[in-house]
Amino acid sequence: MKVLGIETSCDDTSAAVVIDGCHVASSEVSSQTKDHSPFGGVVPEIASRRHVENLPGIIDAALRKAEMTWAEIDAIAVTKGPGLASSLIAGLITAKALANQLGVPLWCVNHLEAHIYSVFLDSEHLNPFDEEPILFLTVSGGHTNLVMMRGIHNYQLLGTTLDDAAGEALDKGAQMLGLPHPGGPSIEAAAVDGYSGHLSFPQGRPSPNKAFKSSQLNPQFCFSFSGVKTALLYHIRRHPEILDDPAAIRDVAASYQSAVFKALTNRIDAALKEFEAGMLACAGGVMRNKLLRSMVSEVADSHDVPLQLAQAEYCTDNAAMVAGLAGALHKASIKMDTSIDVVPRMPLTKV
Ligand code: KG4
Ligand code: ZN
Repeated sequence: MKVLGIETSCDDTSAAVVIDGCHVASSEVSSQTKDHSPFGGVVPEIASRRHVENLPGIIDAALRKAEMTWAEIDAIAVTKGPGLASSLIAGLITAKALANQLGVPLWCVNHLEAHIYSVFLDSEHLNPFDEEPILFLTVSGGHTNLVMMRGIHNYQLLGTTLDDAAGEALDKGAQMLGLPHPGGPSIEAAAVDGYSGHLSFPQGRPSPNKAFKSSQLNPQFCFSFSGVKTALLYHIRRHPEILDDPAAIRDVAASYQSAVFKALTNRIDAALKEFEAGMLACAGGVMRNKLLRSMVSEVADSHDVPLQLAQAEYCTDNAAMVAGLAGALHKASIKMDTSIDVVPRMPLTKV
């Protein structure tokens, strides 16, 4: 089964060909970073326009790199949500047109589930059909979720962020420090020579309140990054001179990044204490960060739990995870959505 995947949920235009749900034959990504960085964040109108411009070339490149012809493609998979509505529409309409033209099925999948699935790409010893529970951290610019996966398409959301996603906190922190967009990689680069003990930022553990009473979420597995962001804002207001001091920026970046990552690893630690998990797996754009990769590895070791991290190229948004997930769901005879409505605020399936 050869699936051509398309992903346009935010500001990366991506196409990929994945064979039998796991072997990546090609994975092409066109980044729009340069278009959005003058604005300090993603501008939806620009993103959707660029997707429309970039999609034909990227799809063509994915097919060429996979050394395949259109006649060999068995299905088209596309992200339906969550994401920016106008960006999702660009991918969905293109996917629909291609599927119609080729006479193959169109499979629409959930972006959050695709991020989870990214750890299974090109992995010989990991199987999404395994029933053993896997604790997942998916951490990106739009989402921060702690999820227990018990076999394919079977998820229990343990915790989520009550405000910003971890990547969003890094992006906004970088903006306050005058570092370029996207903030995660800029803060990582600045923090390399910084001292993480320079400042003590709050690690955002939400206290039990009314919001939790009506939900099944447990505050000890949830996140809140508004406090760390506000603490940085006040620090800069009190010490505006640091913005002209590269050494101070490095120390603040290191301290800020460390607080965000400790919040993530603390919740993983709490979940591994409470639940039996056969493995810890982490995915999403923020997982490209080398420090975070080593911090989650320490937590996994301390619980004697095997760790699987998404490969760096499949952490940030990509279509391989979309095509791979669709192929795996098809193999499991799970019916996929074929309608062409986008769902900008799509929750994770079966939560
Ligand atoms: O998964 P992704 O490409 O898009 C979303 O679904 O949101 O994640 C993008 C996020 C951004 O917030 C970006 O700053 C962050 O991932 N990111 C990083 C790194 N590379 C990307 N954060 C920390 N360190 C990195 N190296
Ligand atoms: Zn994403």
